[in-house]
Amino acid sequence: MTPRKILVTSALPYANGDIHIGHLVGYIQADIWVRFQRMRGHTVHYVCADDTHGTPVMLRAEKEGLSPEALIARVHDEHLRDFTDFGVAFDNYHSTHTPETRAYCEDIYARLQRAGMIATRAIEQFYDPVKEMFLPDRFIKGDCPRCGAPDQYGDNCEACGAAYAPTELRNPRSAVSGATPVRRESEHYFFRLSDERAVAFLREWTRGEEAVPGATLRHLPPEAANKMQEWLGGEGENKLSDWDISRDAPYFGFEIPGAPGKYFYVWLDAPIGYLASFKNYAVRAGNIAVEDFTDAERAAAAGTEMAHFIGKDILYFHALFWPAMLKFAGYRTPSQLCVNGYLTVNGAKMSKSRGTFITARSWLDGGLDPEALRYYFASKSNGAVEDLDLSFDDMIAKVNSDLVGKFVNIASRCAGFIAKRFEGKLAAIDEAAAAPFVEAWQAGDIAAAYEARDFGRALRGVMRLADVANLYIGDKKPWELAKQDGHEAELHTVCSTALTLFRDLARYLKPVLPALTAKVEAFLDIAPLDWRGNWQALPAGHAIAPYNHLMTRIERARIDALIEANRATLAPKAEVKKMPTTTPIAPEVSFDDFAKVDLRIAKIVAADFVDGADKLLRLQLDIGEEKPRQVFAGIKSAYAPEALVGRLTVMVANLAPRKMKFGVSEGMVLAASDPDGQTPGIHLLSPDGGATPGMKVK
Ligand code: 2FM
Ligand code: ZN
Repeated sequence: MTPRKILVTSALPYANGDIHIGHLVGYIQADIWVRFQRMRGHTVHYVCADDTHGTPVMLRAEKEGLSPEALIARVHDEHLRDFTDFGVAFDNYHSTHTPETRAYCEDIYARLQRAGMIATRAIEQFYDPVKEMFLPDRFIKGDCPRCGAPDQYGDNCEACGAAYAPTELRNPRSAVSGATPVRRESEHYFFRLSDERAVAFLREWTRGEEAVPGATLRHLPPEAANKMQEWLGGEGENKLSDWDISRDAPYFGFEIPGAPGKYFYVWLDAPIGYLASFKNYAVRAGNIAVEDFTDAERAAAAGTEMAHFIGKDILYFHALFWPAMLKFAGYRTPSQLCVNGYLTVNGAKMSKSRGTFITARSWLDGGLDPEALRYYFASKSNGAVEDLDLSFDDMIAKVNSDLVGKFVNIASRCAGFIAKRFEGKLAAIDEAAAAPFVEAWQAGDIAAAYEARDFGRALRGVMRLADVANLYIGDKKPWELAKQDGHEAELHTVCSTALTLFRDLARYLKPVLPALTAKVEAFLDIAPLDWRGNWQALPAGHAIAPYNHLMTRIERARIDALIEANRATLAPKAEVKKMPTTTPIAPEVSFDDFAKVDLRIAKIVAADFVDGADKLLRLQLDIGEEKPRQVFAGIKSAYAPEALVGRLTVMVANLAPRKMKFGVSEGMVLAASDPDGQTPGIHLLSPDGGATPGMKVK
């Protein structure tokens, strides 16, 4: 088969947070696919980088008392270590804050300007007069314009689900300084996505496909292509708006040439970071023609591919802005977007209070095998844009049964006899027993499943073969042959055959389990397993190395400890600096106004999660009435429901009932927090000992 030349990228993680298991789904899927393609003999360059620019990184660095450069250098090393330890083996892990990214940004921008695809116009936005900066939506908070729920972000309300512009929020305030933001106008630069050339191109491209040796690649998975048609509107319609690609100083990023004080928006330079990481790598490697992968004409002539692995949350950027930018700058457009869904844990969104927001590092520190997670994620990946659920019980059962029970067990039952009885040397195999393996190799179904990123199907095929191998061993019972006189030759054949079958299984598992299979290669003393050529048994007379233990079972206790460890990280860290709150004091009220508020001691008699709510818990509060009151409280990030039951707090008992998406809220509990966001946490009030439910608070 003609070798393919593929540039593979994984989405660039933001440089202001830890890698968690939700990230790992997409990286592990990409890494498996890359390893598979390489085993097939294709050339693959796999790159990634940290996504370093933007307001959140700038503010986070400031909060930690660091320069943005120092922060991103630290995070870069942490991220790279996490990925490496999970076997995600990039050829290059770069950064967007680099000369290569700047150069590509400037080149692409200049070409877009020449193509008439850049426009400028003034827009009005919220500005923080204390911090002297424009505020991105997520740094503005206020009361929902529809339902009045307090403390909502600038773009949508978590309580009632309303979507709005930040300028519609009531009592808006800056989450950076606490100040009331003012509206201010400034000139912005736009990429003219609404240009009819862009619309026509995207209409084609999003439905398009590309033939490569041995496969036809769709630019987008079918689910995503349909979504795009909705976003693009019907033929003759134009639903796209121009894309705002500039931000005003202060901003951590690259200044736009010829536009002092204006910076490229982080989402403009993030995907450009793919090219920059590749270039940085290619220049060092010395023998890669960069433009064969980046220039439209040269890439077409050279037949190279570019595949982006991304999560479904960033489809819009990769399926519209990015291909259009590349196209009108004369760069090559992507060959395919490989899109993964979200991770849920035990059927629910990852949650800090439940301890299921699990960092990559904590998994490793907890002594859990990173390949257990790789195997489980692979077994539940089918190549479609679907969410993937990590059920711990299911994971434990699957890893223990498939890998320890079915796979490793083959070697552990046969290797000892070869070492003790046959000087570590193999005999010729039992051809009939190997026949199903030869057929599977020739049929190529497992390879086809890997190619389609349906790793679940691939692994089910592998485990069916493992069952065949185990049936053979169970039928021949080498441990009994070993006890009987005159069965030496048969024992030798059975164990040698089993080890050849084991070698096949290792080959099929190698993209998913690179570390485990490296140990297998060492044990069998064979060249690195690949996916080429004709099927061959391990030859008679081949000497293997002594068998060492390959893998241990996962114990439930380790998972429990992991969840506990991640729950514990919720408590504010000791080293967090206490900053004085800057939230301004509200205007004065009269005593009579204050006295209208009826505050009561309430006992929390029940507390639950609310399906579909990110911040809320549903509380049942006893204030000495016949029936407890139902109250929705935005305290989910700080409290596990079970920790609340039985405790006393203070509630507003005469607040007008509020109808929310999830039910009626009949009051409000009181909690302290620092809305300017400097000191983390939400702290529910409690009375001193002796107070009882229903007591008045004045
Ligand atoms: O959503 C995110 O985490 C972004 N940092 C992804 C960027 S992907 C690419 F465009 F660089
Ligand atoms: Zn609302």
